[in-house]
Amino acid sequence: MKKITNICCIGAGYVGGPTMAVIAQKCPEITVNVVDINEQRIRDWNDSDLDKLPIYEPGLKEVVLEARGRNLFFSTNVEKSIDEAEIVFISVNTPTKTYGKGKGMAADLKFVELCARQIAKVSKNDKIVVEKSTLPVRTAEAVRSILDNTGNGVKFQILSNPEFLAEGTAVDDLHNADRVLIGGEQSTEEGQEAMDALTDIYAHWLPKERILQTNVWSSELSKLTANAFLAQRISSINSLSALCEETEANIEEVARAIGSDTRIGAKFLKTSVGFGGSCFQKDILNLVYICRSMGLQEVADYWEQVILMNDYQKRRFADNIIKTLYNTVSDKKITFLGWAFKKDTNDTRETAAMYVADHLMNDLARIEVYDPKVSSKQMFADMNYLNSRSETENEKQLKAHSDPYEACKNAHAIAVLTEWDEFIDYDWQKIYDNMMKPAFVFDGRNILDRERLEKIGFKYYGIGINS
Ligand code: UDX
Ligand code: ADP
Repeated sequence: MKKITNICCIGAGYVGGPTMAVIAQKCPEITVNVVDINEQRIRDWNDSDLDKLPIYEPGLKEVVLEARGRNLFFSTNVEKSIDEAEIVFISVNTPTKTYGKGKGMAADLKFVELCARQIAKVSKNDKIVVEKSTLPVRTAEAVRSILDNTGNGVKFQILSNPEFLAEGTAVDDLHNADRVLIGGEQSTEEGQEAMDALTDIYAHWLPKERILQTNVWSSELSKLTANAFLAQRISSINSLSALCEETEANIEEVARAIGSDTRIGAKFLKTSVGFGGSCFQKDILNLVYICRSMGLQEVADYWEQVILMNDYQKRRFADNIIKTLYNTVSDKKITFLGWAFKKDTNDTRETAAMYVADHLMNDLARIEVYDPKVSSKQMFADMNYLNSRSETENEKQLKAHSDPYEACKNAHAIAVLTEWDEFIDYDWQKIYDNMMKPAFVFDGRNILDRERLEKIGFKYYGIGINS
């Protein structure tokens, strides 16, 4: 079997960055070049101050420190790195289309296509091309068609190797992956060889039985399916949180009770203000779009409901704040603790926080935010991306703070949007003393100590808990 000595990864984002850092850490004999067209991003990856890495992930600094400069390199030299590599990973972003056919539903594959064309252009010897970005089923076929038609005699093997890491736990997920999925052309010798070469890389640190080989389409569809199933569990528990709020049932107790059934399992049953992140919504929309285009209306409607329930949950949270604050939040200060889509990441893509903020800002609330890792620049970029009001209006209605106690001063209400651990142990008495009364807390993650807060005097509202 061919021993791999040089890898190129196109795209130094949340997937490409951590994944390649771990591959380099675990395979010191392989040179790993991570390339990106975003010069600032590459500068940040190369910064000697590891606090400036473009991505915040627990444990990532240590991995980068070990491998960077040894066999892990970040650069903008895309063509040279492709040329030198035996394996090229495509790890670029695949956002939902914002224009034309499939707008708001299908994945925009223009970045992937550009990569394929660039690989085709510069390659002088045979290569394995691996799709790592989350992609709709059959993308490999499109990539293959572009690569096979270069006419320069170079042969490509296309593999699908979807990434299952979750942000906030990326390094641990990579070190201890439940499984690695490699989809390829099992029916040909070259296809099998390519799959084995990639298997060999992961086998540096993972037991062989966790590395699954399938055909390309199964691999592509498994990624969408895994995310759809996980998101579906959250929407299921969130749908019942609404019922709990109307009854004496407590969603945390219900989740614990059903999660103890080993057939159901305890994970992904944590009720919340709604799931966010770059994957769940995008992948389900993708699945829905594929089903619709194949005429499978019922299947499409079934999965779409997971998204509709998530939208409902975010809206419900915001509406509950308005209703509780005497049906108006106009010119009231509402402090958000947390903006990231989950704890331990600085990523804000599809974060529930921006949709809840948008809803409240439509009712003329003033939103002031503290998040331990998200910059104010990012928060404004998120709000401007929604396009609900002018940039000037966003600047008037939204304010970011670098100190949580300042953020909470004189607030009419506090809303917890992200489950950062530090929020639990704040000096809640101090926060209470400096707030408007009655002091409301809306805990969108059910992380705060309700009893303690109520003893201080707060009016506490959790999710799926009768108030
Ligand atoms: C997800 C998948 O877990 C991962 O396998 C895939 O590779 C990418 O998409 P990620 O989006 O990074 O990972 O984070 P995840 O932990 O799945 O959380 C997604 C969202 O669901 C977050 O907003 C989180 O707060 C929310 N969530 C998660 C809940 O509301 N309740 C839960 O029980 C779990
Ligand atoms: P993901 O979460 O999938 O990793 P990100 O948006 O974090 O997505 O990262 C994708 C990266 O891919 C970005 O840094 C972007 O600049 C980069 N990228 C997109 N297209 C190309 C391209 N043609 N060549 C090199 N890098 C690219």
